[in-house]
Amino acid sequence: IAILGISQDMVGETVLVTAGPTYEPIDPVRFLGNRSSGKMGYAIAEAAIRRGARVVLITGPTALKPPSAAEVVPVETAEQMRNAVMAHFPDADVVIKTAAVADYTAKHRSDQKIKRKGEMMLDLVPTTDILAELGQRRVKPAQVIIGFAAETQDGVSNAREKLRKKGVDAIVMNDVSRVGLGFSSDRNAATIVTASEEIEIPEMTKLEMAQRVLDLAVKLRASIRS
Ligand code: CTP
Ligand code: CA
Repeated sequence: IAILGISQDMVGETVLVTAGPTYEPIDPVRFLGNRSSGKMGYAIAEAAIRRGARVVLITGPTALKPPSAAEVVPVETAEQMRNAVMAHFPDADVVIKTAAVADYTAKHRSDQKIKRKGEMMLDLVPTTDILAELGQRRVKPAQVIIGFAAETQDGVSNAREKLRKKGVDAIVMNDVSRVGLGFSSDRNAATIVTASEEIEIPEMTKLEMAQRVLDLAVKLRASIRS
């Protein structure tokens, strides 16, 4: 069946999408965060809904309006994102992690605004690697897990390393050194690395790219199940 020419090949599937940045508070008025508009993750949520999937969208702070059919879980910190992802992971058939999770969080969060006075040091501790945790504990057979990675150099080899270390099925690698693509742009280009192939995705809209990523998710699901 097809609605408006889009095939409904994800009916019955639950897709868990993470999007946007996380904000790690330093004090009541400041945070550490990554550059991320959330557009790629929201495009995947939208595309998956069009294909008939149930979509859970776990999102850090963005300026975007989520697709109305998505079940939205707003979060702020990496820890909150981790807890939300773990709570929904058992239901998920496909997990797509576009979120730019902060790698470090402040060791101590000040209750009061820190006053500016000369040089200062901030103690940071690493956040949990959510994707690696998922890769290590798949709860259902045939769960497909796809991560995203923004790289500025040695993109494909870094992506291959992340694929292996995190134990996931694919890494969609964006070369963010390319001008005008990625981050707040509506367009993107990528190389998708899996255990067996490297798929070159030329420049296209994020919604078109979302469809390509879902094509791969559907294909991987079928290959794991058969
Ligand atoms: N990721 C995650 N939890 C973290 C950090 C990253 O789940 N604490 C996920 C991201 O959502 C993304 C993937 O891991 O899907 C790759 O993120 P990236 O930042 O490229 O990987 P890192 O292992 O953090 O490596 P780097 O040192 O390059 O930042
Ligand atoms: Ca990182």
